Amino acid sequence: MRLLVTGGSGYTGGRLVGLARAAGHDVTGTSHSTRVEGLVPLDVRDRAAVDRLLDELRPDTVVHTSYAQSDWAVTALGAAWVAAAAARTGARLVHVSSDAVFTGRPAPYTEADLPEPVYPYGAAKAAAETAVLAVHPDAAVVRTSLIIGDDNAKQHQLALDMAAGRVDGVLFTDHIRHPVAVDDLAAALLELAEGDHRGVIHVAGPEAITRHALGVLIASRHGIPADRVASGSAIDRGIISPAEVRLDTTLAESVLRTRLRGATEILA
Ligand SMILES: NC(=O)c1ccc[n+]([C@@H]2O[C@H](COP(=O)([O-])OP(=O)(O)OC[C@H]3O[C@@H](n4cnc5c(N)ncnc54)[C@H](OP(=O)(O)O)[C@@H]3O)[C@@H](O)[C@H]2O)c1
Repeated sequence: MRLLVTGGSGYTGGRLVGLARAAGHDVTGTSHSTRVEGLVPLDVRDRAAVDRLLDELRPDTVVHTSYAQSDWAVTALGAAWVAAAAARTGARLVHVSSDAVFTGRPAPYTEADLPEPVYPYGAAKAAAETAVLAVHPDAAVVRTSLIIGDDNAKQHQLALDMAAGRVDGVLFTDHIRHPVAVDDLAAALLELAEGDHRGVIHVAGPEAITRHALGVLIASRHGIPADRVASGSAIDRGIISPAEVRLDTTLAESVLRTRLRGATEILA
């Protein structure tokens, strides 16, 4: 398979590029602000550049992982340009989305639940999903949760920086997520790239855990005691962000061979 991975310099994209190359696929990964040997530069905000790259490479499949947390043009418009180019050139598309599209509630969200974002990043990811499904109805849209695995992950860096006093703040005891291992997510994305699943699919670990409990697990791998990981309530601080987001992964468990592990198992 000729595979294009946007965001090949990122945590998930980089893992996917390595996995797909090891599986024998012809893989092109892209980078943006970082120059990485073996990756090609791409700014997904530049629609003409996206079109040129797809015309040149003619990939069988595109996995779109690129995003920027606080940049609508990258996260929403960039996803739309990639989806339109993939549709125009007849490439399969696997688009990576997020649990951030939801408001948060105690009951798990299924793939049938529509986005109801409460903050700008969630709105941009929701807009991206909408654009992708409008222009490329055969795309797989993968909603995932906190991506963990090693100290290159943002979640690990945040917990360790807080425990070391390099960053002020607390990890929230009232934010619940379903963390996924970067290796499991990359394997699932490769399976979906090779397959023909269309529509939304939730790819996340089975274990619901608070951001603070996750930080304690990460710290304990470095021998850092739990009381060094500051805890607090997002709601008490007036933080506008989804509180409890549980992704129902029944569909992924039936469609994918990849076993999705929970945070405690990943970090054991
Ligand atoms: N991290 C999480 O916990 C989490 C949770 C839920 C969903 N997700 C979703 O999972 C996906 C991957 O997340 P990640 O944390 O693995 O990503 P990441 O490590 O932050 O990497 C982001 C990638 O996007 C690229 N990028 C940024 N601006 C760009 C632009 N203008 N044009 C093209 N590429 C650009 C970056 O390239 P350079 O670094 O070279 O600039 C990098 O390769 C994203 O779609 C995200 O929304 C992540």
